[in-house]
Amino acid sequence: MSERDGHIADGRPIGVFDSGVGGLTVLHECLVNLPHEDFIYLGDTANFPYGPKRLAEVRRLAFAATEVLVTLGVKLVIVACNSAAAAALPQLQASFSTPLVGVVMPGARAAAQATRERRIGVLATEATVRSNAYQNALHALDAGLEVFAVASPRLAPLIQTGDVFSEETERAAREGVAPFKAARVDTVILGCTHYPLITPMLRRLLGPQVTLINSAEETAREVGEILARKGIGNEDGREGRYSFLASGDPEEFRKVGTRFLQLPIREVDHI
Ligand code: DGL
Repeated sequence: MSERDGHIADGRPIGVFDSGVGGLTVLHECLVNLPHEDFIYLGDTANFPYGPKRLAEVRRLAFAATEVLVTLGVKLVIVACNSAAAAALPQLQASFSTPLVGVVMPGARAAAQATRERRIGVLATEATVRSNAYQNALHALDAGLEVFAVASPRLAPLIQTGDVFSEETERAAREGVAPFKAARVDTVILGCTHYPLITPMLRRLLGPQVTLINSAEETAREVGEILARKGIGNEDGREGRYSFLASGDPEEFRKVGTRFLQLPIREVDHI
């Protein structure tokens, strides 16, 4: 802690974790919106993908990742993985004293505010859809919302490993959004960290009347508000640092991750 002009700055970093590189879309938004904060990002690449796993297994992995970040002394943990937040956020919050923020509630809140017809689509992994986390969060905000949750098992792995803009990715995206068109939703939540990378494709498939909600942007906004309200923000005006940990191959993380972060990734430590 340091004091300047009566304002106490909290210099501790913010921890962010995900099943791999996808959460870098969330980190990207945080780095853009909170450039004065330091971040430690943990990518559990050795266990990617979380989406097809049982919820109990995703919960176990989320506890292990949170433990690592808390041990490093972070002031807040962002569960930047939709599958992990959906499967484990309440249990994590009940077990750790460090504040934890997930990506589900910020996205749900923005969607509940944006929808005009009260018909919302959620495109996500199987684990996220199975957990009912988005459905529950949306109904807690407005019990009258009609929610259509669609699991796409193929999209995240295709975006991560294949050519993002390939015909195969487009086919999987088309298949994913087809139920939303039939249900005439007016708002769609991108309920997986990977989907912001195919925003133009989804926009074209859904049409201009449908509002897309990017959970990453909403989460970064909420983190900023939490830091301000709790008075645990770092000193304004400084340039924050960001560093990386990966449970899989660090070089692979660096190569694939740069596309998601859209900023340079220098060193990656293996854990
Ligand atoms: N970060 C994960 C999510 O948002 C990406 C997909 C996965 O691990 O299966 O659900």
